[in-house]
Amino acid sequence: MRLLVTGGLGFVGSNFVRRVLRLHPQWHVINFDKVTYAGNPENLKDLEDEARHTFVRGDIADPLKVDEVLRWAGVDAIVNFAAESHVDRSIMDASPFVEANIKGTQVLLDTARRHDIGRFLQVSTDEVYGSLGFDDPPFTESTPLAPNSPYSASKAAADLLVRSYFKTYGLPAVITRCSNNYGPYQFPEKLIPLMITNAMEDKPLPVYGDGLNVRDWIHVEDHCSAIEAVLTEGRPGEVYNVGADCEIRNIEIVKGVLTVLRKPDSLITYVKDRPGHDRRYAMDSTKLRQELGWTPQYDFWDVLPWIVGWYKQNEQWWRRVKSGEYRKYYEEMYGHREVAGTTAVTAGEETHR
Ligand code: NAD
Ligand code: TYD
Repeated sequence: MRLLVTGGLGFVGSNFVRRVLRLHPQWHVINFDKVTYAGNPENLKDLEDEARHTFVRGDIADPLKVDEVLRWAGVDAIVNFAAESHVDRSIMDASPFVEANIKGTQVLLDTARRHDIGRFLQVSTDEVYGSLGFDDPPFTESTPLAPNSPYSASKAAADLLVRSYFKTYGLPAVITRCSNNYGPYQFPEKLIPLMITNAMEDKPLPVYGDGLNVRDWIHVEDHCSAIEAVLTEGRPGEVYNVGADCEIRNIEIVKGVLTVLRKPDSLITYVKDRPGHDRRYAMDSTKLRQELGWTPQYDFWDVLPWIVGWYKQNEQWWRRVKSGEYRKYYEEMYGHREVAGTTAVTAGEETHR
């Protein structure tokens, strides 16, 4: 299998690339990433000498570049992780979200169709369903889409485009919608790595609103195993919810992190609430479990000390991210190229890593 993975330098994408290369000796991954602030080549430093991993820098919203890489790479399937992913950033400026998440997905879909790609997997999110009340049943695949942030609205728009390309052109596309992930290499702007790293630095832990918002948590490895199952066995045109039945209030997570690190609760600082803050997410993943036999392997409270331990052992990784140093790594590896730009590597000069 030759797989085009977009956004493979981000949190979930890098864990997915590492996983599939480990588990499938015959698979080759072409990792197509724009290297935005969230795309960190250090996330896959351990694959520098892996011949089955090819990195190409490019923007999924750039039709010529996407066409070039698909022509050159001859891939069997595409997994689209590439996206702007942080809700707070989308509230400050929605335009990069429209560009990457909506236009990027449309360009990828069109190019996949022209190249007759055998499988297209869109990595989506539970946030497209909106917000639940505390007594509501979890989201199923037939829950109406009701996104509340520019981020989730852009992801919902992308999902609808994917659906339309299946219905209109017969593109063999599938969608996964997953709940909140935790694990190694998560960018420290998201709740769990932000709280762990701030606590390690004895900095305040900013809790939005009353801290009682609920998220449904899943280990990134479980998300990746679900994507793999849907990629290889999911039915074209279908949506699969992914979740590990693990609803937790934000404040419990923050206190859990402080307990593991033996830091005082006085670091907790309640701050102004996020505008339009979704109260609760909860996923019903019965369809994925029954149809494809998928089950999650990790329990949040069992692995929390291990996750905290990962950030302790990889202090250099997150300190370089927080200080901005990580943006220099790309230039060191690939020469004098502008990390913030979009045209550093043309498809003719792919770099084997
Ligand atoms: P991330 O922000 O850590 O990584 C995103 C990656 O995409 C980065 O490497 C970035 O450089 C790349 N990228 C951004 N715009 C691009 C473009 N135009 N062209 C090419 N590459 C581009 O995000 P993540 O947390 O790893 O999420 C990955 C995907 O999974 C997203 O689509 C997100 O919506 C979805 N998802 C994430 C979670 C979660 O909890 N993290 C949960 C459900 C779904
Ligand atoms: P986040 O990790 O941004 O994921 P999402 O908004 O996509 O679910 O936030 C998870 C929850 O934590 C969400 O309810 C907002 C809250 N939160 C805080 O209370 N403080 C923070 O500093 C951040 C980043 C998030």
